[in-house]
Amino acid sequence: MKPEIMTQPLTTAPTDAEKLAARKQWDHLCKRGTDFLGTQYAILAGAMSWVSERHLVSAISNAGGFGVIACGAMQPERLAEEIAATRAMTDKPFGVNLITMHPQLLELVDVCLQAGVGHIVLAGGIPPGAAIKAAKDGGAKVIAFAPALVLAKRLIKMGVDALVIEGAEAGGHVGPVSLTVLAQEILPHIDQVPVFVAGGLGRGDALLAYLEQGAAGGQLGTRFAAAAESIAHEKFKHTFVRANARDAVTSVQLDERFPVIPVRGLANEGSRKFLVHQADVINRFQSGVVSKEEAQLEIEHFWAGALRRAVIEGDVESGSVMAGQSVGLVKAVQPVAEIIADLVDQAVEALVRQKRRMDADG
Ligand SMILES: Cc1cc2nc3c(=O)[nH]c(=O)nc-3n(C[C@H](O)[C@H](O)[C@H](O)COP(=O)(O)O)c2cc1C
Repeated sequence: MKPEIMTQPLTTAPTDAEKLAARKQWDHLCKRGTDFLGTQYAILAGAMSWVSERHLVSAISNAGGFGVIACGAMQPERLAEEIAATRAMTDKPFGVNLITMHPQLLELVDVCLQAGVGHIVLAGGIPPGAAIKAAKDGGAKVIAFAPALVLAKRLIKMGVDALVIEGAEAGGHVGPVSLTVLAQEILPHIDQVPVFVAGGLGRGDALLAYLEQGAAGGQLGTRFAAAAESIAHEKFKHTFVRANARDAVTSVQLDERFPVIPVRGLANEGSRKFLVHQADVINRFQSGVVSKEEAQLEIEHFWAGALRRAVIEGDVESGSVMAGQSVGLVKAVQPVAEIIADLVDQAVEALVRQKRRMDADG
Protein backbone atom coordinates (compact mmCIF):
# COMPACT_ATOMS: atom_id res chain seq x y z
CA MET A 1 0.00 0.00 0.00
CA LYS A 2 1.14 3.49 -0.74
CA PRO A 3 1.48 5.84 2.22
CA GLU A 4 -1.02 8.68 2.09
CA ILE A 5 0.57 11.99 1.20
CA MET A 6 -0.32 14.53 3.83
CA THR A 7 -0.97 18.09 2.90
CA GLN A 8 -1.45 20.70 5.56
CA PRO A 9 -5.25 21.07 5.62
CA LEU A 10 -6.64 24.58 5.60
CA THR A 11 -7.98 25.01 9.13
CA THR A 12 -11.12 26.55 7.69
CA ALA A 13 -12.34 25.95 4.17
CA PRO A 14 -11.39 28.70 1.71
CA THR A 15 -14.13 31.23 1.21
CA ASP A 16 -15.48 31.90 -2.29
CA ALA A 17 -13.68 35.26 -2.28
CA GLU A 18 -10.37 33.63 -1.33
CA LYS A 19 -10.78 31.00 -4.02
CA LEU A 20 -11.67 33.61 -6.61
CA ALA A 21 -8.60 35.72 -5.80
CA ALA A 22 -6.32 32.65 -5.80
CA ARG A 23 -7.79 31.43 -9.08
CA LYS A 24 -7.10 34.83 -10.65
CA GLN A 25 -3.51 34.64 -9.45
CA TRP A 26 -3.16 31.10 -10.85
CA ASP A 27 -4.63 32.14 -14.22
CA HIS A 28 -2.20 35.05 -14.28
CA LEU A 29 0.78 32.77 -13.58
CA CYS A 30 -0.38 30.42 -16.35
CA LYS A 31 -1.10 33.16 -18.90
CA ARG A 32 2.09 32.89 -20.89
CA GLY A 33 1.61 29.14 -21.21
CA THR A 34 -2.10 29.24 -21.99
CA ASP A 35 -1.59 32.00 -24.60
CA PHE A 36 1.15 29.96 -26.24
CA LEU A 37 -0.81 26.71 -26.27
CA GLY A 38 -4.24 28.26 -26.89
CA THR A 39 -5.67 26.30 -23.97
CA GLN A 40 -7.51 26.90 -20.72
CA TYR A 41 -4.70 25.39 -18.62
CA ALA A 42 -0.93 25.53 -19.06
CA ILE A 43 -0.78 21.77 -18.70
CA LEU A 44 0.70 19.65 -21.45
CA ALA A 45 0.55 15.90 -21.63
CA GLY A 46 3.96 14.64 -22.63
CA ALA A 47 3.84 12.38 -25.67
CA MET A 48 4.09 8.71 -24.71
CA SER A 49 4.65 6.03 -27.34
CA TRP A 50 1.63 3.69 -27.64
CA VAL A 51 -0.25 5.70 -24.98
CA SER A 52 -0.61 9.16 -26.55
CA GLU A 53 -3.07 8.40 -29.32
CA ARG A 54 -6.45 9.83 -30.29
CA HIS A 55 -8.37 8.83 -27.12
CA LEU A 56 -6.00 10.22 -24.49
CA VAL A 57 -4.91 13.21 -26.60
CA SER A 58 -8.48 14.33 -27.32
CA ALA A 59 -9.53 13.75 -23.69
CA ILE A 60 -6.72 16.00 -22.47
CA SER A 61 -7.46 18.75 -24.97
CA ASN A 62 -11.21 18.51 -24.28
CA ALA A 63 -10.46 18.92 -20.56
CA GLY A 64 -8.62 22.21 -21.21
CA GLY A 65 -5.07 20.82 -21.30
CA PHE A 66 -2.83 20.29 -24.31
CA GLY A 67 -2.70 16.74 -25.67
CA VAL A 68 0.25 15.64 -27.80
CA ILE A 69 0.21 12.70 -30.22
CA ALA A 70 3.33 10.50 -30.01
CA CYS A 71 4.33 9.84 -33.61
CA GLY A 72 7.20 7.50 -32.65
CA ALA A 73 8.03 5.26 -35.61
CA MET A 74 4.73 5.91 -37.48
CA GLN A 75 4.89 6.33 -41.25
CA PRO A 76 3.51 9.61 -42.68
CA GLU A 77 0.15 8.08 -43.79
CA ARG A 78 -0.40 6.54 -40.36
CA LEU A 79 0.34 9.88 -38.65
CA ALA A 80 -2.08 11.68 -40.99
CA GLU A 81 -4.74 9.13 -40.01
CA GLU A 82 -4.08 9.59 -36.27
CA ILE A 83 -4.25 13.38 -36.54
CA ALA A 84 -7.54 13.18 -38.46
CA ALA A 85 -8.99 10.73 -35.92
CA THR A 86 -7.95 12.99 -33.03
CA ARG A 87 -9.41 16.03 -34.75
CA ALA A 88 -12.70 14.14 -35.08
CA MET A 89 -12.74 13.78 -31.27
CA THR A 90 -11.80 17.34 -30.29
CA ASP A 91 -12.02 20.81 -31.72
CA LYS A 92 -9.44 22.03 -29.18
CA PRO A 93 -5.72 22.51 -29.93
CA PHE A 94 -3.34 19.56 -29.69
CA GLY A 95 0.22 18.93 -30.84
CA VAL A 96 2.33 16.21 -32.42
CA ASN A 97 5.63 14.91 -31.05
CA LEU A 98 8.12 13.87 -33.74
CA ILE A 99 11.36 12.03 -33.03
CA THR A 100 14.23 13.89 -34.69
CA MET A 101 16.01 10.72 -35.89
CA HIS A 102 12.94 9.49 -37.81
CA PRO A 103 14.19 8.99 -41.39
CA GLN A 104 11.10 10.77 -42.77
CA LEU A 105 11.16 13.70 -40.35
CA LEU A 106 10.54 16.36 -43.00
CA GLU A 107 7.66 14.41 -44.50
CA LEU A 108 6.14 14.06 -41.03
CA VAL A 109 6.47 17.81 -40.47
CA ASP A 110 4.66 18.29 -43.76
CA VAL A 111 1.86 15.92 -42.68
CA CYS A 112 1.39 18.03 -39.52
CA LEU A 113 1.34 21.26 -41.54
CA GLN A 114 -1.12 19.87 -44.11
CA ALA A 115 -3.40 18.85 -41.25
CA GLY A 116 -3.16 22.29 -39.64
CA VAL A 117 -1.41 21.11 -36.47
CA GLY A 118 -0.38 24.29 -34.66
CA HIS A 119 2.40 22.93 -32.43
CA ILE A 120 5.13 20.43 -33.32
CA VAL A 121 7.29 19.00 -30.55
CA LEU A 122 10.70 17.87 -31.77
CA ALA A 123 12.10 15.28 -29.36
CA GLY A 124 15.05 12.91 -29.10
CA GLY A 125 18.02 15.21 -29.66
CA ILE A 126 18.86 18.61 -31.08
CA PRO A 127 16.40 19.08 -33.95
CA PRO A 128 17.81 19.71 -37.43
CA GLY A 129 17.55 23.36 -38.53
CA ALA A 130 15.69 22.25 -41.67
CA ALA A 131 12.88 20.70 -39.62
CA ILE A 132 12.53 23.82 -37.44
CA LYS A 133 12.46 26.04 -40.51
CA ALA A 134 9.96 23.85 -42.38
CA ALA A 135 7.62 23.79 -39.38
CA LYS A 136 7.83 27.53 -38.79
CA ASP A 137 7.54 28.44 -42.48
CA GLY A 138 4.40 26.32 -42.53
CA GLY A 139 2.91 28.31 -39.64
CA ALA A 140 3.44 25.85 -36.77
CA LYS A 141 5.09 26.61 -33.44
CA VAL A 142 8.08 24.48 -32.54
CA ILE A 143 8.71 23.10 -29.06
CA ALA A 144 12.03 21.41 -28.24
CA PHE A 145 13.70 19.84 -25.20
CA ALA A 146 16.58 21.67 -23.50
CA PRO A 147 18.65 19.44 -21.22
CA ALA A 148 21.04 22.29 -20.22
CA LEU A 149 21.24 26.10 -20.34
CA VAL A 150 23.71 26.23 -23.27
CA LEU A 151 21.41 24.05 -25.31
CA ALA A 152 18.40 26.16 -24.35
CA LYS A 153 20.18 29.24 -25.70
CA ARG A 154 21.25 27.39 -28.85
CA LEU A 155 17.70 26.16 -29.52
CA ILE A 156 16.33 29.69 -29.13
CA LYS A 157 18.90 30.92 -31.66
CA MET A 158 17.80 28.13 -33.98
CA GLY A 159 14.27 29.54 -33.81
CA VAL A 160 12.31 27.27 -31.48
CA ASP A 161 9.23 28.92 -29.99
CA ALA A 162 9.15 27.17 -26.62
CA LEU A 163 11.22 24.79 -24.53
CA VAL A 164 10.52 21.85 -22.28
CA ILE A 165 13.00 21.14 -19.51
CA GLU A 166 12.61 17.60 -18.27
CA GLY A 167 14.12 16.33 -15.04
CA ALA A 168 15.51 12.87 -14.39
CA GLU A 169 12.42 12.10 -12.28
CA ALA A 170 10.38 11.65 -15.47
CA GLY A 171 9.21 8.42 -17.03
CA GLY A 172 10.77 7.18 -20.28
CA HIS A 173 14.13 8.31 -21.66
CA VAL A 174 15.75 10.65 -19.16
CA GLY A 175 18.75 12.87 -18.67
CA PRO A 176 20.88 12.84 -15.54
CA VAL A 177 19.72 16.07 -13.84
CA SER A 178 16.66 16.52 -11.59
CA LEU A 179 14.02 19.12 -12.44
CA THR A 180 14.77 20.96 -9.17
CA VAL A 181 18.27 21.71 -10.44
CA LEU A 182 17.44 22.17 -14.14
CA ALA A 183 14.80 24.74 -13.21
CA GLN A 184 17.34 26.75 -11.21
CA GLU A 185 19.89 26.47 -14.00
CA ILE A 186 17.55 27.50 -16.80
CA LEU A 187 14.44 29.41 -15.66
CA PRO A 188 16.17 32.57 -14.33
CA HIS A 189 18.07 32.99 -17.60
CA ILE A 190 15.48 32.34 -20.28
CA ASP A 191 12.65 34.73 -20.91
CA GLN A 192 12.72 34.93 -24.71
CA VAL A 193 10.39 31.92 -25.02
CA PRO A 194 8.00 30.07 -22.70
CA VAL A 195 9.62 27.23 -20.77
CA PHE A 196 7.52 24.26 -19.67
CA VAL A 197 8.76 22.02 -16.85
CA ALA A 198 8.47 18.23 -16.81
CA GLY A 199 9.47 15.34 -14.62
CA GLY A 200 8.05 14.35 -11.27
CA LEU A 201 4.98 16.56 -11.36
CA GLY A 202 2.05 14.88 -9.68
CA ARG A 203 0.34 17.71 -7.81
CA GLY A 204 -0.80 21.23 -8.61
CA ASP A 205 1.08 22.84 -5.72
CA ALA A 206 4.37 21.50 -7.13
CA LEU A 207 3.52 22.90 -10.55
CA LEU A 208 2.63 26.21 -8.88
CA ALA A 209 6.11 26.42 -7.33
CA TYR A 210 7.70 26.15 -10.79
CA LEU A 211 5.30 28.74 -12.23
CA GLU A 212 6.41 31.07 -9.44
CA GLN A 213 10.01 30.39 -10.49
CA GLY A 214 9.15 31.54 -14.02
CA ALA A 215 7.94 28.41 -15.82
CA ALA A 216 5.12 28.93 -18.33
CA GLY A 217 3.45 25.63 -17.51
CA GLY A 218 4.02 21.98 -16.81
CA GLN A 219 4.19 18.75 -18.76
CA LEU A 220 3.00 15.51 -17.17
CA GLY A 221 3.19 11.98 -18.52
CA THR A 222 2.94 9.38 -15.78
CA ARG A 223 -0.32 10.62 -14.25
CA PHE A 224 -2.03 10.77 -17.65
CA ALA A 225 -0.78 7.32 -18.71
CA ALA A 226 -2.92 5.90 -15.89
CA ALA A 227 -6.00 7.99 -16.79
CA ALA A 228 -9.32 6.31 -17.50
CA GLU A 229 -9.21 7.43 -21.15
CA SER A 230 -5.69 6.04 -21.70
CA ILE A 231 -5.81 2.93 -23.89
CA ALA A 232 -3.06 1.36 -21.78
CA HIS A 233 -3.98 -2.12 -20.54
CA GLU A 234 -5.79 -2.28 -17.19
CA LYS A 235 -2.84 -4.23 -15.74
CA PHE A 236 -0.48 -1.41 -16.80
CA LYS A 237 -2.66 1.20 -15.08
CA HIS A 238 -3.15 -0.86 -11.94
CA THR A 239 0.60 -1.38 -11.65
CA PHE A 240 0.86 2.42 -11.60
CA VAL A 241 -1.76 2.68 -8.85
CA ARG A 242 0.14 0.17 -6.69
CA ALA A 243 3.68 1.46 -7.31
CA ASN A 244 5.69 3.75 -5.06
CA ALA A 245 8.04 6.48 -6.26
CA ARG A 246 11.10 4.35 -5.48
CA ASP A 247 9.88 1.57 -7.79
CA ALA A 248 10.44 3.81 -10.84
CA VAL A 249 14.14 3.29 -11.50
CA THR A 250 16.46 3.95 -14.44
CA SER A 251 17.89 1.14 -16.51
CA VAL A 252 21.27 -0.07 -15.27
CA GLN A 253 24.36 -0.24 -17.48
CA LEU A 254 26.83 -3.01 -16.54
CA ASP A 255 29.84 -2.05 -18.63
CA GLU A 256 30.89 1.39 -19.84
CA ARG A 257 32.04 -0.14 -23.14
CA PHE A 258 28.39 -0.97 -23.84
CA PRO A 259 26.28 2.12 -23.22
CA VAL A 260 22.67 1.73 -22.14
CA ILE A 261 20.33 4.67 -22.71
CA PRO A 262 18.81 5.54 -19.33
CA VAL A 263 15.08 4.84 -19.31
CA ARG A 264 12.96 5.23 -16.17
CA GLY A 265 10.38 2.53 -15.55
CA LEU A 266 9.05 0.21 -12.90
CA ALA A 267 11.50 -2.45 -11.75
CA ASN A 268 10.21 -5.88 -12.78
CA GLU A 269 11.30 -9.29 -14.05
CA GLY A 270 12.28 -7.65 -17.37
CA SER A 271 14.65 -5.15 -15.75
CA ARG A 272 16.24 -7.95 -13.68
CA LYS A 273 16.65 -10.15 -16.79
CA PHE A 274 18.23 -7.19 -18.60
CA LEU A 275 21.16 -7.33 -16.17
CA VAL A 276 21.61 -11.06 -16.75
CA HIS A 277 21.36 -10.48 -20.52
CA GLN A 278 24.03 -7.78 -20.44
CA ALA A 279 26.35 -9.99 -18.36
CA ASP A 280 25.88 -12.86 -20.81
CA VAL A 281 26.54 -10.68 -23.88
CA ILE A 282 29.61 -9.12 -22.26
CA ASN A 283 30.97 -12.62 -21.44
CA ARG A 284 30.48 -13.72 -25.03
CA PHE A 285 32.22 -10.55 -26.25
CA GLN A 286 35.15 -11.14 -23.89
CA SER A 287 35.57 -14.71 -25.08
CA GLY A 288 35.53 -13.54 -28.72
CA VAL A 289 32.21 -15.17 -29.66
CA VAL A 290 30.60 -11.86 -30.73
CA SER A 291 32.10 -8.60 -31.99
CA LYS A 292 31.71 -5.33 -30.10
CA GLU A 293 29.10 -4.12 -32.61
CA GLU A 294 27.13 -7.36 -32.38
CA ALA A 295 27.25 -7.23 -28.59
CA GLN A 296 25.99 -3.62 -28.54
CA LEU A 297 23.14 -4.52 -30.90
CA GLU A 298 22.16 -7.52 -28.78
CA ILE A 299 22.02 -5.31 -25.70
CA GLU A 300 19.96 -2.68 -27.48
CA HIS A 301 17.66 -5.31 -28.98
CA PHE A 302 16.61 -6.59 -25.54
CA TRP A 303 13.88 -3.97 -25.10
CA ALA A 304 12.61 -3.98 -28.72
CA GLY A 305 8.81 -4.09 -28.63
CA ALA A 306 8.83 -4.17 -24.82
CA LEU A 307 6.90 -0.92 -24.24
CA ARG A 308 4.14 -2.10 -26.59
CA ARG A 309 3.99 -5.43 -24.74
CA ALA A 310 3.50 -3.65 -21.42
CA VAL A 311 1.12 -0.91 -22.58
CA ILE A 312 -1.03 -2.82 -25.05
CA GLU A 313 -0.77 -6.45 -23.97
CA GLY A 314 -0.51 -5.78 -20.24
CA ASP A 315 2.73 -7.74 -19.84
CA VAL A 316 3.88 -5.79 -16.81
CA GLU A 317 6.32 -8.51 -15.75
CA SER A 318 8.68 -8.70 -18.72
CA GLY A 319 7.56 -5.61 -20.68
CA SER A 320 8.92 -2.10 -20.31
CA VAL A 321 6.65 -0.32 -17.80
CA MET A 322 7.96 3.20 -18.37
CA ALA A 323 6.93 5.42 -15.47
CA GLY A 324 8.27 8.44 -13.64
CA GLN A 325 8.78 8.81 -9.91
CA SER A 326 5.45 10.65 -9.78
CA VAL A 327 3.91 7.17 -10.13
CA GLY A 328 3.88 7.28 -6.32
CA LEU A 329 1.26 10.02 -6.60
CA VAL A 330 -1.07 7.98 -8.82
CA LYS A 331 -3.76 6.87 -6.36
CA ALA A 332 -6.46 5.68 -8.74
CA VAL A 333 -7.41 5.40 -12.38
CA GLN A 334 -9.13 8.77 -12.84
CA PRO A 335 -10.71 10.53 -15.81
CA VAL A 336 -8.43 13.17 -17.33
CA ALA A 337 -10.83 15.99 -16.40
CA GLU A 338 -10.66 14.92 -12.75
CA ILE A 339 -6.82 14.79 -12.81
CA ILE A 340 -6.67 18.31 -14.25
CA ALA A 341 -9.33 19.60 -11.82
CA ASP A 342 -7.32 18.12 -8.90
CA LEU A 343 -4.13 19.80 -10.12
CA VAL A 344 -5.88 23.17 -10.39
CA ASP A 345 -7.61 22.81 -7.00
CA GLN A 346 -4.31 21.89 -5.30
CA ALA A 347 -2.61 24.95 -6.79
CA VAL A 348 -5.49 27.25 -5.82
CA GLU A 349 -5.55 25.83 -2.29
CA ALA A 350 -1.79 26.36 -1.99
CA LEU A 351 -2.24 29.99 -3.03
CA VAL A 352 -4.96 30.49 -0.41
CA ARG A 353 -2.65 28.97 2.24
CA GLN A 354 0.18 31.23 1.10
CA LYS A 355 -2.02 34.33 1.33
CA ARG A 356 -3.31 33.40 4.80
CA ARG A 357 0.27 32.86 5.99
CA MET A 358 1.32 36.24 4.68
CA ASP A 359 -1.74 37.94 6.23
CA ALA A 360 -1.03 36.24 9.56
CA ASP A 361 2.58 37.47 9.47
CA GLY A 362 1.24 40.97 8.93
C1 LIG B 1 4.91 5.31 -20.58
C2 LIG B 1 5.71 6.50 -21.02
C3 LIG B 1 6.13 6.61 -22.36
C4 LIG B 1 6.83 7.75 -22.80
N1 LIG B 1 7.17 7.85 -24.13
C5 LIG B 1 7.73 9.01 -24.58
C6 LIG B 1 7.96 9.20 -25.98
O1 LIG B 1 7.65 8.33 -26.79
N2 LIG B 1 8.51 10.39 -26.41
C7 LIG B 1 8.83 11.39 -25.50
O2 LIG B 1 9.31 12.46 -25.94
N3 LIG B 1 8.63 11.23 -24.17
C8 LIG B 1 8.06 10.08 -23.70
N4 LIG B 1 7.79 9.96 -22.36
C9 LIG B 1 8.02 11.12 -21.45
C10 LIG B 1 6.72 11.97 -21.33
O3 LIG B 1 6.41 12.58 -22.55
C11 LIG B 1 6.84 13.09 -20.28
O4 LIG B 1 7.77 14.06 -20.65
C12 LIG B 1 7.21 12.55 -18.90
O5 LIG B 1 6.42 11.43 -18.62
C13 LIG B 1 7.01 13.65 -17.85
O6 LIG B 1 7.42 13.26 -16.59
P1 LIG B 1 6.48 12.42 -15.56
O7 LIG B 1 6.53 11.00 -16.06
O8 LIG B 1 7.16 12.58 -14.27
O9 LIG B 1 5.11 13.00 -15.60
C14 LIG B 1 7.14 8.80 -21.88
C15 LIG B 1 6.74 8.66 -20.54
C16 LIG B 1 6.03 7.55 -20.10
C17 LIG B 1 5.59 7.46 -18.66
